[in-house]
Amino acid sequence: MEIRSLRFDGEVLHILDQRKLPFEFVDVPCRTAEDVWEAINKMKIRGAPAIGVAAAYGMYLGIKNAPEDKEQFFKELERVKKYLDSARPTAVNLKWATTRIFNLAKKFENLPVPEIKNAILSEAIAMEKEDAERNFRIGEYGSELFKDGDTIMTICNTGALATVAYGTAFSVIRRSFEKYKDIKAIALETRPYLQGARLTALELREAGIPFHLITDNMAGFIMSKGLVNGVVVGADRIAANGDTANKIGTYTLAVLAMYHKIPFYVVAPVSTIDPEINSGKEIPIEERNPDEVTHCGGKRIAPEGIKVYNPAFDVTPNRLIDAIITDKGVLRKPFDKSIKEILK
Ligand code: MRU
Repeated sequence: MEIRSLRFDGEVLHILDQRKLPFEFVDVPCRTAEDVWEAINKMKIRGAPAIGVAAAYGMYLGIKNAPEDKEQFFKELERVKKYLDSARPTAVNLKWATTRIFNLAKKFENLPVPEIKNAILSEAIAMEKEDAERNFRIGEYGSELFKDGDTIMTICNTGALATVAYGTAFSVIRRSFEKYKDIKAIALETRPYLQGARLTALELREAGIPFHLITDNMAGFIMSKGLVNGVVVGADRIAANGDTANKIGTYTLAVLAMYHKIPFYVVAPVSTIDPEINSGKEIPIEERNPDEVTHCGGKRIAPEGIKVYNPAFDVTPNRLIDAIITDKGVLRKPFDKSIKEILK
């Protein structure tokens, strides 16, 4: 079964509703920027690169019926950009994608508006294609860090569902499995949203990669048994010094990996690096609905009338990261230098 997070048919952006997985495969047709905003905000589509590509199409859907008067058109384009940027705060890929579309329109501002609209659509299509190519390269670079017989631990979902194809950290596992054959994975369930149990387990099963699913609090024990050779995680935003925001629980995993002397790798396309942010302290962390913590699978599991924390992401300080695997190569410490170099 081919798993695709999104598909544009020339008119409509079709999003696979990830909230319903792994049990139902429901198509969400998005015809407007509002539909795309809703899909991102409500996590029908999630994962930093997938959100970026969806937002690029959202820019097109938002302005395809905009006035042909140039001033009005650019006003509308700016409004749609700000609106889409507000859908989720942490993944920089969202802003990166809408900014790329906006800058492209500005570059073509001397053209008639219908031509600018066509250029925006072509750019969104190109960004979708690029994402798949980038992820493939990430898998190539990342798999060099593993060998036959290795077991790779991961958190959240960084596969085809979180991207356009192949995935990021998942691409490293996928490519290592293709190259070395005897590769196993361990997927953390990733409370509270269960991206690991619902999505990564589905993708690993479909890819035929042998794996075990564990709850998040089992990671330390499994590491202490010598069952893990490396940890790969995705990223929602990487600061200029290498500090990385990713799914809640990533920081805990990095601390555990360091204690057990297991290599810990962040895996992301270069578009996830935010050079405007010097350290992880500046990364905005999304707080989600307390219901995600008090409930599991739609059923309440905690008593009424209690206080809840629900940060959706955490920040892993650069010193806990052994390398950052990107589509342009593997970055090593000091990350401020290697990041600067790669962004040149
Ligand atoms: O809240 P989510 O499911 O959008 O969070 C996703 C993650 O944290 C991923 O690890 C990250 O976006 C990288 S996906 C290739």
